[in-house]
Amino acid sequence: MWRDHFLGWSRDHEREKTRSLSTSEVGSPFLNACRGKSVPHTPVWIMRQAGRYLPEYRKIRAEVDFLTLTKTPELAAEVTLQPVRRFGMDAAILFSDIMTPVEGMGVALEFNPGPVIQTPIRSLAQVDRLRIPNPEEGVPFVLETVRILSRELPSSAPLIGFSGAPFTLFCYLVQGQGSKTFAEAKGFLFAEPEASHLLLEKLAQTMACYLEAQARAGAKALMIFDSWAGLLGPEHYAKFAFPAVQRMIETLRPLDVPLIYFPNQGASLLEIVRDSGADVIGVDWRVPLSRARAILGEKIAVQGNLDPTVLFAPRDELGRQVDGILREAGTAPGHIFNLGHGIERTTDPDAVAFLVDRVHEASKVRRSF
Ligand code: CP3
Repeated sequence: MWRDHFLGWSRDHEREKTRSLSTSEVGSPFLNACRGKSVPHTPVWIMRQAGRYLPEYRKIRAEVDFLTLTKTPELAAEVTLQPVRRFGMDAAILFSDIMTPVEGMGVALEFNPGPVIQTPIRSLAQVDRLRIPNPEEGVPFVLETVRILSRELPSSAPLIGFSGAPFTLFCYLVQGQGSKTFAEAKGFLFAEPEASHLLLEKLAQTMACYLEAQARAGAKALMIFDSWAGLLGPEHYAKFAFPAVQRMIETLRPLDVPLIYFPNQGASLLEIVRDSGADVIGVDWRVPLSRARAILGEKIAVQGNLDPTVLFAPRDELGRQVDGILREAGTAPGHIFNLGHGIERTTDPDAVAFLVDRVHEASKVRRSF
């Protein structure tokens, strides 16, 4: 069965990786890069690395719907492992969704294919009724998935736990579904500031507890996805979205796991984001990494930022653009290679294999100069 297969694989993989490392290199390049330490090669993983571009994922999805998949720990662990097994990434990301924990707050949720909220939140009374759930009760299946993965993953590919950022979750809860502008949700910030602040605060508390539980269950790093941060200008971002992220990070700081914050489309927010307290800032492809690093300073690592559609280019062009990102990141420690946002569903998996190998090889060569 697939279970024996993946358990056997991860042990062999672990042995092999351990053999190939000299003692000076022991330790995860990903975790070391998060902490700004020097690494033998630039670590790489890909946002949405588990998913529909992989035939082995589609095979499992043909049998179970997405919500069931996220709630069945052995299957969720298997799809988390799929890309790591196929490509040898330097980190694994838990297979779940940013919306998964909001069910425990008392919100009815569906996926079609993105999140759909049956009764969008539009009043203070609705916000008042939301619970701040204990993760062991609200999402026991997620914590079980994390426990399986922390046993089975090789130490060369540590597990990243994650949650949505309060503002991004707020967007879905108030709008009710995905949207280009999230006009209803943004309008609610200004029409109902009291209810908005309370909702953001409840989300911050719930997600901080949720991430803490993932770390205690074995996640080695934690990432906060703020996919819709860039819908706000700096003033509104600083007033509504940012304080809730800062409170989450403050709560999580004592855990001593690296914290990654990704404010998507955040080019005009970086001066604010610098004070988030995160160890790593995810950068989308709209900002050159050299500029992000100049604004963020040398104590904060950066993660990114190849445009995901470059994976559709011929290999020589893809290779050149990968090298370009490595050059932009510079030779100082503290870069984790990633795409600037999630991988597209129609991407050829062989292009991903090429990218991962190119990052590893090209960054080794750069370091030997
Ligand atoms: O590999 C990984 O990155 C781990 C799994 C993961 C999923 N969603 C699985 C998923 C992660 C980290 C997420 C985060 C997520 N979910 C975000 C933040 C990251 C980002 O892309 O900005 C957001 C905004 C969501 C909300 C969401 N969930 C959308 C918009 C969609 C539909 C669009 C899409 O990409 O398919 C989902 C569904 C979803 N989440 C799928 C997967 C693999 C597709 C479900 C399927 O198999 O049909």
